[in-house]
Amino acid sequence: MNILVTGGAGFIGSHTVVELQNAGHEVVVVDNLCNASEKSLQRVAQITGKQVPFYPVDIRDRAGLEQVMEQYRFDCCIHFAGLKAVGESVGMPLEYYDNNIGGTLTLLDVMRQHGCKNIIFSSSATVYGDPAEIPITEACPKGQCTNPYGQTKTMIEQIMMDLQKADPAWNIVLLRYFNPIGAHQSGLIGENPRGIPNNLMPYITQVAVGKRPQLGVFGGDYDTPDGTCIRDYIHVVDLAVGHVKALQAIERGCGLAIYNLGTGKGCSVLEVIHAFETATGVKIPYVVQGRRAGDIPAMYSDPGKAERELGWKAQYGMEEMCRDSWNWQRKNPNGFED
Ligand code: NAD
Ligand code: UD1
Repeated sequence: MNILVTGGAGFIGSHTVVELQNAGHEVVVVDNLCNASEKSLQRVAQITGKQVPFYPVDIRDRAGLEQVMEQYRFDCCIHFAGLKAVGESVGMPLEYYDNNIGGTLTLLDVMRQHGCKNIIFSSSATVYGDPAEIPITEACPKGQCTNPYGQTKTMIEQIMMDLQKADPAWNIVLLRYFNPIGAHQSGLIGENPRGIPNNLMPYITQVAVGKRPQLGVFGGDYDTPDGTCIRDYIHVVDLAVGHVKALQAIERGCGLAIYNLGTGKGCSVLEVIHAFETATGVKIPYVVQGRRAGDIPAMYSDPGKAERELGWKAQYGMEEMCRDSWNWQRKNPNGFED
């Protein structure tokens, strides 16, 4: 298939471009590089042996998108482009709503004008809020998001559902990611956070590489077996393969389809730290601090629907996730700036 990948220079996008090219798809990337480097796509080409046509276009730029759409005939768009920092979104709600929602509205409209009505969207488990039950199935009602970033995911899902209802020619797959970590096994591409990492694994790897003295564990008094929060961490390569598999749903004319992408296994913060130490032999000094506002005590997926309907199942465990996160960080202590 000919696939337009928005945000394809970013963390999950670049890994997905690798898997798409390896599966024989033709890929074109648009990305405004607000949170990525074009070098990631050069590294993708190193891995796959295929160049990645790249356009430095902002998805809010209608004319720029139209130019790309006119040049190619896309069968499907995989839409990663968006701002994703939860804390930042609280201070910059207008920028988040404009970029994520405004950008998506423009993208959908330009796609419609060019007769491309197939899209796979990067949603998040954050749409479940504090889940009514775990493991979380797709039938679990959506919950209250406590920040503008999460709201954009919930709202974009709703916009896409309304669009598909109004025009059943659309095929829309909403992928709700749990916690992506890890990196490509080559160590050539990986996560490259700006400034102080918000997320657990990039913080751990920066402690391991000596950039930060210690990890703060946010809360040791949750109602969980060891008192720390439980999440469903998933290897980014498994996640990337999930997108390739989701194309099957598009091809068979799924209408609207929603899938959780997780492993189904919950892991506490302390378990992640210990798994990292075991997998890499590097000690992670940590101190237990107060809780972080907005954190949910425990969430993990029931990934059964994606297995039944797409034949997708996560292959990698926590050991590989830690090994590959560390391999990337060790080889690229300053991300793509080296
Ligand atoms: P990322 O920041 O590495 O990738 C997003 C990419 O989009 C970046 O390359 C950025 O430059 C680009 N971008 C942002 N706004 C743009 C715009 N207006 N026009 C063009 N390009 C733009 O983040 P990621 O971790 O790869 O996440 C990809 C998607 O998955 C995002 O939509 C994110 O919200 C979603 N998601 C991520 C996680 C996670 O933990 N990483 C979890 C759930 C959902
Ligand atoms: C966070 C976001 C979520 C987003 C996801 C992916 C919040 C409340 N949620 O999820 O909306 O979709 O990232 O970008 O921000 N932790 C520490 N110390 C740290 C960092 C994290 O103890 O320095 C703990 C957290 O409290 C949490 C776990 O590690 O229990 C995972 O945190 P993180 O990687 O930020 O992911 P989420 O909070 O699950």
